Amino acid sequence: MAKYKPKPWLVCCFISAGLLCAVALVCLCVVSRTKADKDCPSGSFTRAAVAADSRQCSEIGSNILQQGGSAVDGAIAALLCTSVINPQSMGIGGGSIFTIRNKKGNVKVYNFRETVPKSFKTNLLDDCPTSVGLTTGSQWIGVPGELRAYEEVHKQYGKLPWAKLFEPTIKLAREGFPLPAHLGTLLQFPIVKGHVEKSSICDIFCNKNRTVLRTGENLTFLKLADTMETIAKQGAKAFYSGKIGQDLIQDIEAAGGTMTMEDLTSFQVRVEDAWTVSLGSTKMHLPPPPSGGPLLAFILKLMQEFPFNQNSLNVDQKIQIAVHLIQDSFINSINDRISSNLTHENSYYNNTKPSRDNVGTTHVSVLDEEGLAVSASSTINQVFGGGVYSPRTGIILNNELLDFCHRADTVRAGEQPPSSMTPVILESKSGGLFVIGGSGGSLITSAVALSMINHLWLGMNLKDAIAAPIVFVDSNNKVNFEPDFNKSVIKGLTTLGHKSGNWKFFLNVVNALEKENGCITAVSDVRKDGSSLSSPLLKSPLKFPFKSPLESPLEFPLGPPLESLFESPFKSLSKSFLKSHSQCDVLAACCKIPLNNTDTILSGVMGSKLTRQRSLDFETKVSKRRR
Ligand SMILES: *[C@@H]1O[C@H](CO)[C@@H](O)[C@H](O)[C@H]1NC(C)=O
Ligand SMILES: *[C@@H]1O[C@H](CO)[C@@H](O)[C@H](O)[C@H]1NC(C)=O
Ligand SMILES: *[C@@H]1O[C@H](CO)[C@@H](O)[C@H](O)[C@H]1NC(C)=O
Ligand SMILES: *[C@@H]1O[C@H](CO)[C@@H](O)[C@H](O)[C@H]1NC(C)=O
Ligand SMILES: *[C@@H]1O[C@H](CO)[C@@H](O)[C@H](O)[C@H]1NC(C)=O
Ligand SMILES: *[C@@H]1O[C@H](CO)[C@@H](O)[C@H](O)[C@H]1NC(C)=O
Repeated sequence: MAKYKPKPWLVCCFISAGLLCAVALVCLCVVSRTKADKDCPSGSFTRAAVAADSRQCSEIGSNILQQGGSAVDGAIAALLCTSVINPQSMGIGGGSIFTIRNKKGNVKVYNFRETVPKSFKTNLLDDCPTSVGLTTGSQWIGVPGELRAYEEVHKQYGKLPWAKLFEPTIKLAREGFPLPAHLGTLLQFPIVKGHVEKSSICDIFCNKNRTVLRTGENLTFLKLADTMETIAKQGAKAFYSGKIGQDLIQDIEAAGGTMTMEDLTSFQVRVEDAWTVSLGSTKMHLPPPPSGGPLLAFILKLMQEFPFNQNSLNVDQKIQIAVHLIQDSFINSINDRISSNLTHENSYYNNTKPSRDNVGTTHVSVLDEEGLAVSASSTINQVFGGGVYSPRTGIILNNELLDFCHRADTVRAGEQPPSSMTPVILESKSGGLFVIGGSGGSLITSAVALSMINHLWLGMNLKDAIAAPIVFVDSNNKVNFEPDFNKSVIKGLTTLGHKSGNWKFFLNVVNALEKENGCITAVSDVRKDGSSLSSPLLKSPLKFPFKSPLESPLEFPLGPPLESLFESPFKSLSKSFLKSHSQCDVLAACCKIPLNNTDTILSGVMGSKLTRQRSLDFETKVSKRRR
């Protein structure tokens, strides 16, 4: 029996079945700055917009833009705000990756993900947890890059004074605010509750009885407010070489950590050109390893190659050479691994060590009036990092080094752990811009890819594209379905032999902005707060002018054995079918074929073993170049 010819829905399965789990948090909201112009659909904007995790922080970012700030100013202000509104996701004790497109269209990546301190625990990887959960411990703390990078990008692209960006957050932190609902819910998850109550971050998130606070209770960050005030006045050096740094190091030492002042003073932001891949007539700019950018590009390119355009794959030459993952030959070799009728053990896919599932992170997308676009993902890794709190500074520390676990055999000082973060910027031939990224740990790449495919290729409006339920495969190769996922598809998958997982926390969150013909649509994921559905911003689907690969006619003849498995008429899926049906239906089509293979392949390919390899190769190249 001949191998299946690539089909769109097959590829779609790939995506959906794609990655592993995640626990992120937060979400929702959109805010934008200017009033809808008469020429723009209602709810869209003409000048600038911010899409952060929360309405509050989107608003703070927007206010900054309104006061004349640049997109970078807006992004920094929104992220600082997020560090108190969604303190479980990110903060100045963590790191980020920014992808920034300037007015002229040059795209740079500012990578300030945490690094391994000069001295770190011997046999660190022996401490790696063997099951999914939240991991505490000072040995996992990476050197925080957040503030140093804010300062660097602010110097380059900022328009408002540095201190201005901190003002709204200092006020929130000091005066307190009602504990947000999604944080309140998260704190009640037994796993999170236990994590918080037994760690020092309980100082912030617990009441006097050392019990986690509830939604609506007054949440304050008094110490952090002081710290931010000092940094606002003195700059990032207060953190990297001043009193705040010393206090922080003292607290880390007290918690048993090894980081030193020297680690802080020597932290450097890595600035590099974005990698660029072509997806039809659209260009996607992505951050290089150790980010999840290449994985996202891989998914989309694989998607595109399979179904949509046999002849027109148009890959930037440089990328082909540089990046194994997104090389055609590699993608072809993956295709070759796919049999239509059976699945294989992990070893067949060289997926000997599936990566551990991962959690956390936030994303913000910002576009300003002058055309500066910022796609920024930021994280302290797991929910509340490793639960290490610095009482002298009010900073919650990351546990980023945990990302080496099950992905690395060794750890070197100065190295950055691999990441799923994938803040990208797309541009269409006609000048349209699409700024997108997400949170949710290992779930980021699949959630972002699905949102993009739903929107750009399947014609769903941006809001629906992001809101569509997802399916993902965890590191045990269990298939997990987001609530409301189409039941008949679940049944179909089970029939094919998939084992359902039991994942409860679909906290994947995607935030995106799109500008076309002078109109901006901003969508923040509504997963955590359906009330933002009422936002008028979400009500106006805008057609993005990217050429859909579905423009070409499609015929999807199914082989008899598979066809007979299902009742619905997938024999002649057409473009109009795809366009008029929800993602679930498309997935249903996908799922008629052996997802068995595709998920395994994906967790193999996506498995960070490979990413990690790429990232090491990359770092070797970079350090050679630097010498
Ligand atoms: C599965 O497909 C392969 C070719 O891809 C074929 O050699 C094999 O016989 C098929 N197995 C079954 C059980 O149909
Ligand atoms: C919250 O706590 C802060 C700091 O103690 C206090 O100033 C503020 O009044 C409180 N807000 C409310 C609503 O209780
Ligand atoms: C703390 O515990 C005491 C005794 O159980 C109880 O009376 C009090 O209401 C609790 N306080 C809070 C804030 O839960
Ligand atoms: C999927 O894999 C399971 C075992 O992992 C196997 O029993 C089942 O037959 C496979 N289904 C298909 C359609 O290949
Ligand atoms: C799997 O690994 C083996 C040995 O390292 C290698 O020869 C083979 O090409 C790999 N296969 C794939 C699909 O990468
Ligand atoms: C679920 O998928 C099946 C098969 O594609 C389709 O017939 C059905 O309408 C879908 N249900 C919903 C609620 O979308």
